[in-house]
Amino acid sequence: MTVGIPIRRIWPTPATPPLDDAELTALYGRADRPHLRVNFVASLDGAVTLDGYSAGLSGGPDKQVFGLLRMLCDGLLVAAGTLRHEGYRAVRLSEPRRAWRRERGLPEYPTLVVVSGSLDLDPAQAAFADAPVRPVVLTHAGAEPPPGLTDVAELVRCGDERVDLAAGLAELRRRGLGQVLCEGGPHLFGALTAADLVDELCLTVAPLLAGAGPGRITAGDPGAPRELPLRHVLAADDGVLMLRHARDAAGPPPAGAAPPA
Ligand SMILES: NC(=O)c1ccc[n+]([C@@H]2O[C@H](COP(=O)([O-])OP(=O)(O)OC[C@H]3O[C@@H](n4cnc5c(N)ncnc54)[C@H](OP(=O)(O)O)[C@@H]3O)[C@@H](O)[C@H]2O)c1
Repeated sequence: MTVGIPIRRIWPTPATPPLDDAELTALYGRADRPHLRVNFVASLDGAVTLDGYSAGLSGGPDKQVFGLLRMLCDGLLVAAGTLRHEGYRAVRLSEPRRAWRRERGLPEYPTLVVVSGSLDLDPAQAAFADAPVRPVVLTHAGAEPPPGLTDVAELVRCGDERVDLAAGLAELRRRGLGQVLCEGGPHLFGALTAADLVDELCLTVAPLLAGAGPGRITAGDPGAPRELPLRHVLAADDGVLMLRHARDAAGPPPAGAAPPA
């Protein structure tokens, strides 16, 4: 079933009819090995925000894929900056998407994983307080949690004075969170790129010029360029492009055919 604005594959093999949720699910899939997927939306001229937030860049097709990628992951990784700024709420999935997960032996919801060095986090924020699964906070050995944080989240310390992202991902994988979806923000993406931990980037390109001012999808200290080959291009009928780049030629194979209704 196709809902909302039609999305079509235009590369590598053009598929003229709109893709339904089943076909989109199969195109993104779950990998058969530990995998870090990053998802961003940007303007045509590279801006990561409009009026300070990502919402102005995101429309129906982006939201559809955004939700689908959440359905497909074990761990939903987000940096504290984005969690605070975007006012993250608890991770929820629709009943059909929860059913899709149950049918594959997955927990009904992915685990939210927050990266924070300062632990300047509000335990009352809905992302923690209403979470259907106890969130994990990746932090370092020296960080002091504010009162109440350990009541609503589990602290995982990796690194002595700063968060060691490679060690953090290894720990997530040890806990069964092998398929990790990172929703940003730019500083976390920059650090993951610098550490060569990014397996895949899903990028929605909104057809608008944001103009000068906003940052890019990546930030922080410069590092070595990393090649990330193109795997598919989707186009929505409102002019939005959805690019999937991954280093593995095979990409994540389809997780199974049956989609959420
Ligand atoms: N367009 C999109 O798709 C999209 C997606 C996400 C975010 N955004 C936008 O991006 C902006 C926020 O991004 P940002 O770059 O300022 O912040 P960010 O990357 O979301 O968060 C940075 C924070 O992550 C924590 N952190 C801990 N260890 C880290 C490490 N090793 N590497 C990197 N970060 C680490 C730190 O938190 P502590 O301060 O707690 O130590 C740091 O201050 C917002 O405007 C948001 O709207 C856009």
